[in-house]
Amino acid sequence: MTFVLLTTPAQLRDYRNTIVGGSIGFVPTMGALHPGHLSLIENARRENEIVIVSIFINPLQFAPTEDLQRYPRDLERDRQLCEKARVDVIFAPTVEELLGKHGIATTVVPPESMTSILCGRSRTEHFQGVATIVTKLLNLVQPDRAYFGQKDAQQLAIVRRLVADLSLPVEIVGCPIVREASGLAYSSRNQYLSSQEKESAAGLYRSLRQAQTAFRQGVRRSVDLIDRAKSELATEPEIQLEYVELVHPETLEPLEIVETVGLIAIAARIGSTRLIDNLLLRQPIVAIDGPAGAGKSTVTRQVARRLGLLYLDTGAMYRAVTWWVLDAGMEIEEKTVAAALDGCHLELQPDEASGCRVWVNDREITREIRTPEVTEKVSAVSALPSVRQFLVAQQQRYGRRGGLVAEGRDIGTCVFPDADVKIFLTASVAERARRRQKDLEQQGHGSIDLPELERSIAERDRQDSTRAISPLRKADDAIEVSTDGMTIEEVIDRIVGYCR
Ligand code: PAJ
Repeated sequence: MTFVLLTTPAQLRDYRNTIVGGSIGFVPTMGALHPGHLSLIENARRENEIVIVSIFINPLQFAPTEDLQRYPRDLERDRQLCEKARVDVIFAPTVEELLGKHGIATTVVPPESMTSILCGRSRTEHFQGVATIVTKLLNLVQPDRAYFGQKDAQQLAIVRRLVADLSLPVEIVGCPIVREASGLAYSSRNQYLSSQEKESAAGLYRSLRQAQTAFRQGVRRSVDLIDRAKSELATEPEIQLEYVELVHPETLEPLEIVETVGLIAIAARIGSTRLIDNLLLRQPIVAIDGPAGAGKSTVTRQVARRLGLLYLDTGAMYRAVTWWVLDAGMEIEEKTVAAALDGCHLELQPDEASGCRVWVNDREITREIRTPEVTEKVSAVSALPSVRQFLVAQQQRYGRRGGLVAEGRDIGTCVFPDADVKIFLTASVAERARRRQKDLEQQGHGSIDLPELERSIAERDRQDSTRAISPLRKADDAIEVSTDGMTIEEVIDRIVGYCR
């Protein structure tokens, strides 16, 4: 597909009508693109056949006193960046083309509880303007997925709520904040800063990190966490603080105590530039990937226990869905299962004895998922795309609460790309073959041919790393732990050490 620039809703509609099949990923922006925007585009590119980026400086979300006139505009540069990032379509209408000569009269009003705090205190109508334009853009583009940055955490929470409340048929994908080396989050508004101001602005992230350090040391009261951030901010006199608040990341309700997860958010002025930043405070997520036979599941279980975190047993989750399919007497077939998955409610709880207890629709099935019937069918059920999609969403739901260790072929790359610690656990083919041979012999399988085992392990590696959906690959930010010659205890010690 060649790159196209569309400027009117009519052109977009025509283009949209030419698309049959293939998922559409949509990245709404106000242009002046920077690495933060580009990371959203990269995610969209990875997960969809077609990527549409909108560039529209939305007047509805600027108050009369704000920087609408001055907001940076450079469509030619944005166009080049998008083309380089293999975007298929830029939708860049003028204000008149998108809103008509007389503007639009309907406003989407998000819940007051989400718009009256944080940035809503000073930007009273801002989120109505955002919600209105986002609804309009989603209706025009009709994407399968839309990508929003965690940088604007309040916007992301409001958009998620909007999409859920109005049943808009789109999946909202939140993407981590991209920062400069100094820690300053990329923003189109950073262009307003002098180099001296930019240096001071890095203090925002430092102050958030102070709160995070305190949280990791066990501080749980919001006032104490906020105090930590404030005392760091006090070291940068150029920062005029508007707010530091601690809220629940999804509901945005103010928190007095951070039990599992909290969002600490800041807005401040530096000179005449208003900047925002935030950080999720949560117990860490540790993701352990690596080839089959490297010892992932044993290691993961024990690392979770040592760190006092939930062992997210993804294998048990696939078994639970398999049990549910069998229990309902359902045919193992994509359409049938996909249509019924809405009625499958899964819960996991850490457990000393079994590692993890499992419930489906309030019935405990910790034991049932280990029966031979489930074992026999689990790989057929796991191969259904809807099951995988469903379970990745469930795993990410646990991830939002934080405090877990999980393993899998693509846990660090696809399921938890923003995990705090990523380990790529590996061992040479020869070593894995030796371990497998020992296991098989201990299970009474007689003597096993080593070269044959090596061939089959190498073949499995090849298949895992070349499969179309979620292939095995080492995440760029993963630490590789090669376990050749190490005992399990040594491997666990090493990983626990990285986490601490
Ligand atoms: P804009 O500020 O251009 O941002 C577009 C998207 O890029 C938003 O989802 C924002 O959260 C994300 N983004 C910005 N800086 C980022 C960073 N450093 N790291 C990661 N993501 C980042 O947000 C808007 O435009 C508008 O409100 C819009 C949604 C387009 C509606 O008008």
